[in-house]
Amino acid sequence: MGRFIIPAEGLASAPEVPQPNIFPIEWRVETPKLAEIYERARREGYDPLTLPWDGFNPNAFSRDERVAIMYWFALLSNFDASGPPVFAKAMIHAFETHEEDPVRKCFFSITRDEVNHEETCGRVITRMVPGGPLEWEPRTELEQVAYNNIRWLYHNGGRYWRGYSNALGRYPLAVLFTSFMMGEVASSTLFHGMSRAARHPLFREAFRRIGLDEARHLQICIAMLEKDWPGLTDEYRAFVTRQLRAGFVFLSMILWEPPGQFWELPDYFLPNHRELIRTAREAGLGVLTVDEQADNWRLAIARVRRLVERWRIEFPAIPELDIAGVDVGEISADDIIPVF
Ligand SMILES: [Fe+2]
Ligand SMILES: [Fe+2]
Repeated sequence: MGRFIIPAEGLASAPEVPQPNIFPIEWRVETPKLAEIYERARREGYDPLTLPWDGFNPNAFSRDERVAIMYWFALLSNFDASGPPVFAKAMIHAFETHEEDPVRKCFFSITRDEVNHEETCGRVITRMVPGGPLEWEPRTELEQVAYNNIRWLYHNGGRYWRGYSNALGRYPLAVLFTSFMMGEVASSTLFHGMSRAARHPLFREAFRRIGLDEARHLQICIAMLEKDWPGLTDEYRAFVTRQLRAGFVFLSMILWEPPGQFWELPDYFLPNHRELIRTAREAGLGVLTVDEQADNWRLAIARVRRLVERWRIEFPAIPELDIAGVDVGEISADDIIPVF
């Protein structure tokens, strides 16, 4: 008798694990570039607690300014606070479909970063307006319109979740990633611009750190797309074109102004929004002017366009910014894949 038992008929094979499944466990590496970005994420990732909170006194701002700044962060959170569940779900999906280890790790690191961005939104919001964004009682006209606009924003934010959940299983990750890419390109430039324009050290530093994270997310997107895009069919390519337009429609709310598609908003939303943003800008938050935002968008779009055209993917028309391209028709809630 040896130490081990091996029956005469041989060892029995365990049944195959039914797929999709997170088992069997494995650590396959196909794209060392992604592994390297993940290691960098560990070193570069920021801790919101290290921001200069000590020098941040909400009472240095008027009540109107506090509400307007809270409003902008509530707007940002429509995007950034959806990051954690969006990427966490993508990470689980990557485990279930046995993506290589660095892909799973990168989704994890984006989830981690987005939690920090979301936490930053929450900390500023609740300091500026205790109970914010929605558990407070608006009194003045400015407060009433801020409160009402936030409810409308979150109504729209809440419209994509089911579509996103279904899309995860239907399309290859590379396809989904094109929508993420629009967000990462645009947000990395947005935050860098805002960190230069913001007057308060807390905002400058928060935007600088978040901008660094977003630039890294963009590198992850590019590395993943480079790896997966060559195998895309024409049908998927057409879908990507549509996704790029959906990214523009969705993200314009924070990066510029909402276009006439997808967004369900009352007529008074935009004029009130402009006034609130103006107040936040004058208080030193660093929000770019609408014209500067449009320029920022054009730059970001030109970058994405160059990237996707390498893979013979056509770019959608963005008539709002005088950008010619393919007409992809109406964008609905089902097209929206949340980003940032
Ligand atoms: Fe991001
Ligand atoms: Fe983010």
